[in-house]
Amino acid sequence: MDDAELYAKSSSLQQQFVNKVLQELWPALDWQCEQGTVLDVGCGAGDVTTYELLPRLPPGVSVLAVDISPAMIAKAADRFSGPRLCFRQLDIGTPRIEETDVWRLGPFPKVFSFFCLHWVQDQRLALQNIGKLLSPGGETVLIIVTGSPIYMMFETLSKSSRWSAYMMDYRQFEPPYVRTEDPVAVLTKYLHEAGFSVKTCRNEDSSYSSTDEQKVKNTITAINPFVGRIPQQQREAFLQDCVAEAYSNGTIRADTLPGGTVYSFPYSAMFAHAVKVHRVSRATSYSSNLHSNHTAGH
Ligand SMILES: C[S@@+](CC[C@H](N)C(=O)[O-])C[C@H]1O[C@@H](n2cnc3c(N)ncnc32)[C@H](O)[C@@H]1O
Repeated sequence: MDDAELYAKSSSLQQQFVNKVLQELWPALDWQCEQGTVLDVGCGAGDVTTYELLPRLPPGVSVLAVDISPAMIAKAADRFSGPRLCFRQLDIGTPRIEETDVWRLGPFPKVFSFFCLHWVQDQRLALQNIGKLLSPGGETVLIIVTGSPIYMMFETLSKSSRWSAYMMDYRQFEPPYVRTEDPVAVLTKYLHEAGFSVKTCRNEDSSYSSTDEQKVKNTITAINPFVGRIPQQQREAFLQDCVAEAYSNGTIRADTLPGGTVYSFPYSAMFAHAVKVHRVSRATSYSSNLHSNHTAGH
């Protein structure tokens, strides 16, 4: 099973958390204009876009879902492309967002990004790019992982003689907030710097639980960025070592309850709702055309 296929089968954790956050934040979003296209950044295999985002949107609104991985985009497009949903490749951490196809298709009234931005080390750049992709007054809803014992698990395995060669850069895969005392303060600061007014920003401890151990193992495998680097014939041994370490350091917990054993994977995630503050530039204020066009919006 390739990464995209495994991800397509293992996104229950993300779906549950996104559902909870959108239930809370949706009433605060502005839907005065019930037309246009919103952006979903880091859509993976497309399940969360299709099952959590699309059904909540007004029927006249479409989604452009983007991901850095061509394999994810191919998988998502194959499964979910339709009249209101299409997919494109985009690195939200690019220093040249203005040169991308996606930028040319904008600006967008909303940018959503669920469980993606923690992969981008340069948070300022990613948030500035989101600001550039939004129309003036546009809104963003972000969910970003801030911590989990899984990152200690990666660190431990990266020091083992058998796997170190494949994991030397493990720090690159840690969420940028994992060693931060107050991630909400840091994200809020970055959002202000990128021209946003912050409506909500919270960090929550959560956990994904199931009585099906395999589901929890698949979830941690789907978000393990090193699996694809391990030669095929050693992959099973790597996954076994990951699971052993996961139980040993608390990445997976097994609790025996009267109804059976419940397996859980603890993590913390931060979510934010922010509005791009509309600044009228000198050039725009002299212009007779006060409608926000593509250039003014960017
Ligand atoms: C854990 S998945 C989340 C997928 C989906 N949003 C969800 O909630 O289930 C994270 C996705 O972010 C993508 N990603 C990582 N870095 C990215 C970047 N710089 N730009 C766009 N997508 C990125 C990965 O390829 C992956 O598909």
